Amino acid sequence: MRRTQIVAGNWKMNKTYQEGRDLVKAIVEKLQPSDNKVVLCTPFIHLNSVAASIKDISNLHLGAQNCHQEMRGAYTGEVSAAMLQSVGAEYVIIGHSERRKYFSESDELLAQKVKTVLGIGLLPIFCCGEELAIREEGTQNQLVKKQLEAALFGLEEEDFAKVVIAYEPVWAIGTGKTATPEQAQEMHAYIRALISEKYGEKRADLTTILYGGSAKPNNAKELFSQPDVDGGLIGGASLKADDFVAIVNSF
Ligand code: PGA
Repeated sequence: MRRTQIVAGNWKMNKTYQEGRDLVKAIVEKLQPSDNKVVLCTPFIHLNSVAASIKDISNLHLGAQNCHQEMRGAYTGEVSAAMLQSVGAEYVIIGHSERRKYFSESDELLAQKVKTVLGIGLLPIFCCGEELAIREEGTQNQLVKKQLEAALFGLEEEDFAKVVIAYEPVWAIGTGKTATPEQAQEMHAYIRALISEKYGEKRADLTTILYGGSAKPNNAKELFSQPDVDGGLIGGASLKADDFVAIVNSF
């Protein structure tokens, strides 16, 4: 069995309702049928309408960018995993570096979120990755290991099997400074080795590991051709249909 290749768009806090509708319409028009999965991770307000626009396209899937760790309750302004599922989301990004940084999301909190998401039957796209200072110090492997151990490696294998991992070096996100294909491959191979140690080689071979951080139409092909890079989590370039579809076509 070949592992699933995925290109996921992370719109972040961009696009009004109308702009979002236009973007999805353009993506649907340009996208060719393929075996690779495409996931659109939109702001909450778009989920319902995007679900309707993509329902007949078998390789297009819907995702959110965050959810609360509790199932329900008095958490004003928050959105639960069950709510996401009820509008047709299949995926949810957990632990994006912007959530870790601007909303102080800790490894422990992310472990809770992962459990909640899996418990309800959604699929987490779990983000890990180091800041520039850590890369300069040369301790990125230790940091990523700690992030994975804290939030994922407590899972039973059957739950871990549903997780998609996204390696996103923080210094490459939104900066135009992409990791080189060698840097991406090195970290992806390391992550796969950690999974192999914990869950065995077979599970490691089947785990989808995405690269994120200034992936663009002009560098996606080289990144995706690395043996352990199974696709991308795309921020800025997911906001333009032509760029996003060009990245999807880069496998
Ligand atoms: P970027 O963002 O492609 O704009 O660098 C990637 C991400 O944050 O997921």
